[in-house]
Amino acid sequence: MFINKLIDSLTSQGWYVWDSFLTLSDIQMIKQCLPKTLQDARIGHRGSLQGNKAIRGDQTVWLEPEMGEPVVHYLDKMEQIRQELNCQLYLGLRDFETHFCRYSKGGFYKRHVDNPKGVSRRKITAVLYMNELWQPNHGGELVVYDQEDNHLFTLEPVAGRMIFFMSEEFPHEVLPTEKNRESITGWFLTEKVL
Ligand code: OGA
Ligand code: MN
Repeated sequence: MFINKLIDSLTSQGWYVWDSFLTLSDIQMIKQCLPKTLQDARIGHRGSLQGNKAIRGDQTVWLEPEMGEPVVHYLDKMEQIRQELNCQLYLGLRDFETHFCRYSKGGFYKRHVDNPKGVSRRKITAVLYMNELWQPNHGGELVVYDQEDNHLFTLEPVAGRMIFFMSEEFPHEVLPTEKNRESITGWFLTEKVL
């Protein structure tokens, strides 16, 4: 069971790559549910801080169940994972927030930590890639570092692949992409920070 591998890997190394998390047809159906117009991505939570094209160049839309059954299917899968993580790891994950992202040619996201110093509720990051025709010369790889900024691995954003990692622990960046690069990024959230 992949869910057990996820739990083992999160415990031992803090990250896990789950290939074929969704099928290509699941992914195509999700894409069809999305609005045509996206928003410029901002740094910080739900637009609380300003957008900054020098740091990230993607456009996003928050996912909502009302968008359709394929989105609900993805949200349901993430809810099952949330419950399993809570049962087995006692992480106290309360909510899940998630958005679709599109980087167009030349887009990137400079090295950052999703939840630096634990200042927000983000505990686990989960990024699902949606690029069916991805080739090595398309770029847009995810590069993940450890807390001392040593390179850990570089991941190709191929359709159906999902990476999970502890949001406070892994600096990471998206290399410039040569083609449209699509993904869904989500965060399991803990209780409100006081
Ligand atoms: C993010 C992010 C990585 C990726 O949205 O915070 O780092 O591979 N995404 O899309
Ligand atoms: Mn990130």
